[in-house]
Amino acid sequence: MPVIANVLDYREAARRRLPRFLFDYIDGGAYGEATLRANVDDFARVLLRQRVLVDVGKLDTSTRIFGRDFAMPVGLGPVGMTGFFRRRGEAQAARAARAAGLPFALSTLATCSVEEVTAAAGPIWYQFYMVKDRRFTADMLARAADQGVEALLFTVDLPVPGTRYRDERSGQAGAPSLARSWRRARAMAVRPGWVWDVGVNGRPHTLGNLAPTVGAGVGLDAYWAWVGRNFDPSVTWDDLADLRDRWRGPLILKGVLDPEDARRAVALGVDGIVVSNHGGRQLDGTLSSIAALPAIAAAVGRRTRLLLDGGVRSGLDLLKALALGADMVLLGRAAAWSLAARGEAGVAHMLGLVGAELRAAMAMTGCLATRDAGRHLLVGSEAEADVQEGIAKPAPQLMSTAE
Ligand code: GLV
Repeated sequence: MPVIANVLDYREAARRRLPRFLFDYIDGGAYGEATLRANVDDFARVLLRQRVLVDVGKLDTSTRIFGRDFAMPVGLGPVGMTGFFRRRGEAQAARAARAAGLPFALSTLATCSVEEVTAAAGPIWYQFYMVKDRRFTADMLARAADQGVEALLFTVDLPVPGTRYRDERSGQAGAPSLARSWRRARAMAVRPGWVWDVGVNGRPHTLGNLAPTVGAGVGLDAYWAWVGRNFDPSVTWDDLADLRDRWRGPLILKGVLDPEDARRAVALGVDGIVVSNHGGRQLDGTLSSIAALPAIAAAVGRRTRLLLDGGVRSGLDLLKALALGADMVLLGRAAAWSLAARGEAGVAHMLGLVGAELRAAMAMTGCLATRDAGRHLLVGSEAEADVQEGIAKPAPQLMSTAE
């Protein structure tokens, strides 16, 4: 068993445990993966401001958002097919989140249904795609409400699927064929631990939320065919307005990178926004999430709750996101890697590591409570904060020197 000291150690442990086509599905991004890399690299460019001789004996990481108290400003973001990473994976991850006092968001494309996860872990958040089959959409909203879903994350950065070259090469994506089945079978054959846990004991291998529509007794390819037929590129702001009328609970728009879109969402009455580029899995060559955050915080930060996902690999990154205006971050890959490696215990351990890193970062920046996090925690606060904002745009003086 390798020693696991941080989130990236879980990535390596997941790589050893999962068949290649599943590891690459979690790990990879769209096209040239520039945005995937920028999500991580831009965090390294934000500098925390070290402060000394502050009494940091008592730190408060707790937060209140959408009417609930949580142990820290962290949630588990929605990830599709999580039950293929570990047996009944969403139920395990949701239990770990609940035990840690944190929210868990279930993907529409999850393996376990909203009913299964709620029964295992209590109330959750639900991530929602609007699909062409509007009867499914209406039924799904009713099921979510029935299950006491506490917040709805409406994901809008997937009008069309971004191409992920790694998925094409690994046999994860693409039309069914003998060559693809062979590639997958070879990848599974070298991962016997996974075969036993998920392949044998992790059934049913379906997408649980879609099962009432697609059918329980069909294979995964039938599900993807349904998804392919039903993803709706014609969804617009009118659909958001309509959803706002129909969903009474907290409504969070997920996948916003532009301040203009953020303003429009707030005007339509959303309760929160997730600043996100879908983990670098959709539009490549766009802003990293952390680079997009300052301008969105400046535009709407006082009028809505801001969440962020993409590139958060530690509690130090988390504090940087809070300092630049986020109220909470969502962990996607970190949760998927730790779940794949060690199941529920892995997710619980990973959350403990991130929490310890957050507390250390708070102590060494003199931040006593996460609710007080702000630009003053970053190097140079005022002048330097503008430089941090500059990671979102070319620095004007550099442009004029070059000309
Ligand atoms: C689905 O939302 C994915 O990013 O794979």
